[in-house]
Amino acid sequence: MAEVISDRKCETPECSNFAKLRCPTCIKLGIEGSFFCTQDCFKGNWNVHKQIHKKAKGVGLKPYNPWPEYEFTGKLRPFPVTPKREVPDTIQRPDYADHPEGVSLSESSLKGTTSIKILDEEEIKGVTLASKLAREVLDTVAKAVAVGVTTDELDRIVHEASIKRDCYPSPLNYYRFPKSCCTSVNEVICHGIPDMRPLEDGDLLNIDITVYHRGFHGDLNETFFVGNVDEAGKKLVRVTHECLMKAIEIVKPGEKYREIGNVIQKYVQAHGFSVVRSYCGHGIHRLFHTTPSVPHYAKNKAIGVMKPGHCFTIEPMISEGTWSDEMWPDEWTAVTRDGKRSAQFEQTLLVTETGCEILTRRRAKNGQPYFEDNE
Ligand code: MF3
Ligand code: CO
Ligand code: CO
Repeated sequence: MAEVISDRKCETPECSNFAKLRCPTCIKLGIEGSFFCTQDCFKGNWNVHKQIHKKAKGVGLKPYNPWPEYEFTGKLRPFPVTPKREVPDTIQRPDYADHPEGVSLSESSLKGTTSIKILDEEEIKGVTLASKLAREVLDTVAKAVAVGVTTDELDRIVHEASIKRDCYPSPLNYYRFPKSCCTSVNEVICHGIPDMRPLEDGDLLNIDITVYHRGFHGDLNETFFVGNVDEAGKKLVRVTHECLMKAIEIVKPGEKYREIGNVIQKYVQAHGFSVVRSYCGHGIHRLFHTTPSVPHYAKNKAIGVMKPGHCFTIEPMISEGTWSDEMWPDEWTAVTRDGKRSAQFEQTLLVTETGCEILTRRRAKNGQPYFEDNE
């Protein structure tokens, strides 16, 4: 026992003596209190007291598993999710932000329609600015990616960076999505929920950012390396980025939306990877997700022909093994059915008279060079 001078009383319930001793283990573990009068009182308390040490070390705590029935496809596990973050009410909110089920009535009222909105000058300015701000938020959070950082911390950075730019973080409460961005690790294909899991060396991490600024959404994502990633993981990420760039090359007036999937699958398959089929690119402007739907796989039946003023995303999800996906019981996290890794990149595009403009491209900043890739 460590001798101390203190006016504290002994922690043994019926003992009212002054305490001259402190538990050395508690001192080492940084635990407050644990004062005892004598060695005997300390020994008498030992069976109860030692539980404090166990708890501090996390020994004997059951691992967090909210879904004991669910069979995970890979090694990744969910961690606790922190409470919902608030957005100041000075920031313009999308309609679903205050709907109890996060339903977007402006989106669902268009259900069944196939027509694609042609944006006017003012709307083009709106999506261009929202896309630029989304890019700034992604570049901001990207700097914080490191071993040991939790995806919850990245979400906090995204939330703050969005608010600072007068943006509502579009994912927050969208069909009850609980956080301000999606963070998808390893076998997670998309829509991973930021939580208290610390990033590990070798993880592939996708961060998907969408912001809503003065009536318009901008949407992009990138896959990042956490620490040292193996060669197979690097190749997966490279090929995923390349297939997106190849798809963007064909975007021009008169092109069919269904051609995008042919370009992507041909390239990806040649490198031994597979294309996820359950999630598609989408029209985006005043609405988060609308027409057209843009599948990334070959021989799809997507409706529509590109016209100047169309705005949509391409966001291929490419997997190491099977293309097949399933959902965690949180009803958001999409994972590969074989537990192998998946990567993704996304850009928001505006169809122009001659081709397209990548509205979410990385821009020259402070005189620095322009980067198009993920370096
Ligand atoms: N940003 C995603 C996309 O690219 C959508 C996320 S919806 C959310 O379409 F609710 F999961 F955030
Ligand atoms: Co996105
Ligand atoms: Co998107």
